[in-house]
Amino acid sequence: MKNKILILNIKKLVSIKEKNIEKVSGKEMSFLENIDNAFLFIKDEKIHSFGKMRDFHTNEKIEEMTSLNVKSINAKNKMVFPSFCDSHTHLVYAGSREIEYIDKIKGLSYEEIAKRGGGILNSSRLINKTSENLLYRNASERINEIIKLGTGAVEIKSGYGLSLKDELKMLRVIKELKKDMPISIKSTFLGAHAVPLKYKGRQKEYVDLIINEMIPKVAEENLADYIDVFCDKGFFTEEETDRILECGNKYGLRGKIHANELDFSGGIQVGVKHNALSVDHLEFTGKEEIEILKNSQTMPTLLPGAAFFLGMKYPPARKMIDSGLAIALASDFNPGSSPSGNMQFIMSLACIKFKMITEEIINAVTLNGAYAMGMSDKLGSITKGKIANIFITKEIPSIEFMPYSFGSNLVEKVILNGKIIF
Ligand code: NIG
Ligand code: FE
Repeated sequence: MKNKILILNIKKLVSIKEKNIEKVSGKEMSFLENIDNAFLFIKDEKIHSFGKMRDFHTNEKIEEMTSLNVKSINAKNKMVFPSFCDSHTHLVYAGSREIEYIDKIKGLSYEEIAKRGGGILNSSRLINKTSENLLYRNASERINEIIKLGTGAVEIKSGYGLSLKDELKMLRVIKELKKDMPISIKSTFLGAHAVPLKYKGRQKEYVDLIINEMIPKVAEENLADYIDVFCDKGFFTEEETDRILECGNKYGLRGKIHANELDFSGGIQVGVKHNALSVDHLEFTGKEEIEILKNSQTMPTLLPGAAFFLGMKYPPARKMIDSGLAIALASDFNPGSSPSGNMQFIMSLACIKFKMITEEIINAVTLNGAYAMGMSDKLGSITKGKIANIFITKEIPSIEFMPYSFGSNLVEKVILNGKIIF
């Protein structure tokens, strides 16, 4: 028998949206429709119905909702949120990089560490030595951890392989995780994350390898949903990104690129040119970039965890929203620049560092995040027919309490695909 769940006496059912809203932009981001003192009924893995408690007994489905095979949960003083959609992570990785982190604290820059063969190349060496089994085990532990923190969908990138064999290894691990884990997963091929040591001084040849061998193979084995390039100073140029995205598009892989983290790299321009689904980081965003994004279907995605951890510049989030842009927020969970997938902490950072208000933040970590992974028709809001990925909070006084209480886990119960996970 299919699971049916009825949640009663919900203090606030957060972020109700009509089916056809694919994202929210500008001023709309500060609007959230919520129901106080609500119920929510889940059936066949989907959100089936919801409403005010005072209308519960006259609801046409009352008999079905109160029948014996329905699991009922009392959420008195607790809130129900759509699960977070974390649209940018690198959570399949080997080992850890806390020694570099200490070097950073002592004053070395991210680029200096990368130049010494540290950074992404360090993770790449470790991937090469680590079995698929162990990568899978470590990544599934990380996924279980973020599920407990309220994440219900996650995008995961390759990009620490940097050879055909090891990029495929990473993508196969992600494929297995997709099959086994209760969370929704999208997979992104990031061969152009850094130039491997073997190709030092021969960057063009590495780009050729990506275009001529890696992309065709990834597409043939159907190992990725999207394609990414680290388009930034010291990594890949605008022209190289242009070539890679053009090839990716030919194989049906839409771009989700790293852009403008370290400089005005042209990444936003080339991303929009190829109708990328998202451009991410965006610490260096000016007037020109904002105008270009305004006339696009590309989701600007901000990753405050990385700028926070690296002690670097923050993107002009307020200016972007006030200019009418949509914003998604993601964790960038990775061993080098953001070793945490805690989206509640990301909410706090967006509040403190970006001066975003709670409603904007909730839209950015749910519906707009879902858009940035191509899933906003199925996830990201409390909408009839969407996949029932939700969480119930602990007893909290207000939605503002969420970004306010940084460092605490306010998630008490998680339901994914209509099933209670814990
Ligand atoms: O999103 N900016 C590029 N890539 C990652 C960092 C990866 C790493 O340092 O391992 C990021 O911050
Ligand atoms: Fe990243």
